[in-house]
This record gives sequence, C-alpha cells and structure tokens, in this order.
Amino acid sequence: MVKLIDGKAIAAKLETRVARGVAELATQQRLVPGLAVVLVGADPASLVYVNRKLVKTKAVGMRSIEHRLPAETCETELISLIHALNQDADIHGILVQLPLPRTINANRVLDTIEPTKDVDGFHPVNVGRLSTGTGGLTPCTPLGCMMLLDTVVSDFRGMQAVVIGMSNIVGKPVAMLLLERGCTVTVTHILTRNLSEITRTADIVVVAAGSPGLVRGDWIKPGAVVIDVGINRVIDADGKSQLVGDTRTEELGHAAATTPVPGGVGPMTIACLLSNTLEAARVSAAMHHGAKVAADMTSAA
Ligand code: GUN
Repeated sequence: MVKLIDGKAIAAKLETRVARGVAELATQQRLVPGLAVVLVGADPASLVYVNRKLVKTKAVGMRSIEHRLPAETCETELISLIHALNQDADIHGILVQLPLPRTINANRVLDTIEPTKDVDGFHPVNVGRLSTGTGGLTPCTPLGCMMLLDTVVSDFRGMQAVVIGMSNIVGKPVAMLLLERGCTVTVTHILTRNLSEITRTADIVVVAAGSPGLVRGDWIKPGAVVIDVGINRVIDADGKSQLVGDTRTEELGHAAATTPVPGGVGPMTIACLLSNTLEAARVSAAMHHGAKVAADMTSAA
C-alpha cells in the first residue's frame, strides 16, 4: 500500500503552533491578529470554505471579520471596502474569496489589497517576490503542498517535478516553490501533449487540474510522490455524492506516497492561511515597534 500523507494531522500541528504564536503576540505586544474575509455572492463551495475559515480563525485565537456582500455588488464598492480594510490598523490579513462574480474584474480587486495584508499571496508584489525568492506572503495551497512534501522528501535538489495545472492560485506558485528548492520543474496544462509521458519522468507530481481521477497508475513512476490538490464532487455508482481528487489513489500502489482526498491538501490550505495571517501581524507589530522607537528617539533628541 502507498503511504498516505496525513494532511489533517499535519495541519492540526501547524494550527497548534499558530495558536501559540497568537498567544505570544497577545502577551508580548498586546496585539490580536485580525483576518478580514470578503465574500461576494453565494457560491456554495465558497460558503463552505468561508465558514470553515471563520471557525478556524477563532479557534487559534484570532479575530475574524466577515464581509458578505450581495452578488450584485459592483467593483467600485468592493474596491472601496478593500481601501477601508487596508487603512484599518486592527486588520492584518485580507482575503477576498474567489471566484468573484463575472461582472467584477478579479485582478483589479486583488491589485488593490495592501501587499503586507495579502495573506493569499495573490497581489503582483507578492507574486513577484515569490518568483524572485525575496520573501513576501506565499499562496496558501502551494505552501501547504510543500509542507506535505517536506514530510516525505528530505532533499529536493535535482529532482524532476511535474505540475499539472497552471492556475495563479496553485500551478504557477507551486512550480516557483519547487524551483526554489532545486527541482527541475515542468509545468503542464490543458493543452499539453503526451501528458502521461511527461508525468512518468517525475519524482514529484503535483496535480491541480480539477479533473476527477485524471492521473492513472501508469502515469506514475515507481517511488514517485504524488500530491493531489483536486477536490471534485462526483456522484458515485450508488447515486451518492462524494469528494474525489485528480488521481486514482487505488492505482498508486507503486508510488512512495500520496495525499488522500479529503484529508490531504485541503486542511493545509486553511492552516497556512492562519500561519500567513500570524506572519502578517508579526511584521505589522515589528514595523509599529520600529516606528515607535524612531519617534521616541526623535522626541528625545
Ligand atoms: N478560491 C479557491 N481557492 C482559493 C484561495 O486559496 N483563496 C481564495 N481567496 N479564494 C480561493
């Protein structure tokens, strides 16, 4: 049997670490991290995610501020709200749930978020920081994928990594992270020819295609590690609704390790969001502390 990487347990450990960090900030800096979550419309999957984020945020001791806006909200209104959140010193992280209604240009909205509060890591400044390896906030799902890989891979240098999917949320940023660790990275997508031939060369496969059961056993080299980012709702033979990934786990017996769906990458995304929010709050506390020291020095002079 292939080793299943327990994302739920690894996420729980990270959440415990975040909760400890939150408690430290409260005692040492009198600061409670605040995460604003903005949801436009009522996409059913988005509602599930947003509710889960709210519950987890509170569980680690952070403040959660929710803005639910009607589907008819116009871009200008949404951008005004983001400007207000950018200015609010009690808000350390801002997350705009995607997808946004088609009437709103998502890129223009994401460009408005103050990069130091961009806990999704989608602002062009953070995208640029990731691609130049110069810090910034890293997108949550790719960060979660790397943490799961870290439990089974000790040295990535020289490994062949194949990413299936080229989205801004997963495919592109996870490719950058793998590259940064020394992998030789191939990014494949819907137009890629001979996909299975490419995946067969991989030591690591990260699949974020949104295509149930896409990756078959014979696509995978013996001993490879497969990270399944897919979350697909399908109706099984008994007419029951079920969540499945982008791989056929039952065909991966010869792989070294893979992630289950549910219970693999999914729980890591929210844990990494909390971790990014803590990080943003710490940076904000350090900046204010620095500014205060400078002001004290000025007034003492
Ligand atoms: N929709 C699907 N994944 C994500 C994510 O990571 N962040 C946000 N904001 N929306 C999403």
